[in-house]
Amino acid sequence: MSSFFRGRHFITCQDYTRDEIDVFLDVARELKLKFAHDEPTPWLLYKTVFMIFYDSSTRTRNSIEAGITQLGGHAHFLTPDKLQLSHGETPEDTAEVLSRLGHAIAIRACEYGKGNEYLRRTAARSRVPVLNLQDDVYHPMQVLADIMTIRERFGTDLHGVKVGISWAYAESHLKPLSVPQSQILLFARYGMDITLAYPEKFDLSPEIMAQARENAAHHGGKITVTHDMDEAFDKADVVIPKNWGGFFAASTPEGIVAETKKHRDWICDERRMKLTRRHAIYMHALPADRGKEVTDAVIDGPQSVVYDEAENRLHTAKAVMALTMGGRP
Ligand code: CP
Repeated sequence: MSSFFRGRHFITCQDYTRDEIDVFLDVARELKLKFAHDEPTPWLLYKTVFMIFYDSSTRTRNSIEAGITQLGGHAHFLTPDKLQLSHGETPEDTAEVLSRLGHAIAIRACEYGKGNEYLRRTAARSRVPVLNLQDDVYHPMQVLADIMTIRERFGTDLHGVKVGISWAYAESHLKPLSVPQSQILLFARYGMDITLAYPEKFDLSPEIMAQARENAAHHGGKITVTHDMDEAFDKADVVIPKNWGGFFAASTPEGIVAETKKHRDWICDERRMKLTRRHAIYMHALPADRGKEVTDAVIDGPQSVVYDEAENRLHTAKAVMALTMGGRP
């Protein structure tokens, strides 16, 4: 099975079938158990992954860097200012050269309207897998960890599991659309019952919404859109309230911030959690804007699984690298 994955880019989960996503998840679970037992997994001995980060990161960088080390390989942490990209070298030339020196190129490039295009240009010229560490459209590493976390709580058949994905207020930075977009795309493929809530004007990309609806129709999922945050919590099994930038609300960062400030009441608090089912879980990709997106009582409370979700970033990242960069011995 691993040879079927070997050499493939990992830019969006849409490029992989449901069965292939399940293989990533099975391998991630196996790696999680081996990690727990301190059992060595030298599946990528002496292999190198080049990580190019245009944006800051805690979970993604460290799950890739620790993950490749645990698989017997090594990661180079690179930023554009330390590469000739800063002097205008093209993504194509960078891809051609790095792919002759190592075994994968992993990139985070979240700038709206540019990040995914940069990854696609790199992938078109790379001889080795290009791994998406988050762009402006997709965050496939995050959503694999999310679905793994949900399966740990609700089992492998997620048909009809009710998930509320909601916009939430934040001030720290303009968060990309890529997390909620990847979630509605993939959760729909698992037949989940999705309620997507956001204030008017804070839409996700129309192309992604159309693709997600197609996924839902094909896999028996359901997508409901509302502008009432409470509706995302009503009898939900899983809630994922998280900010994203209103890139369709205004054309400048200042305009988006002004629109965002109108919705300070979009916070995940104990009142809203009481609307969910008793067994419901609270998820967030992190970092969270505490006191704005979510209260401390919720994120530190008994329904929160945010640290399990963050830990699963390690196991799923290792599965993606192990399968695309060489497979198992
Ligand atoms: N969730 C996530 O991608 O975290 P980082 O931005 O810290 O990598």
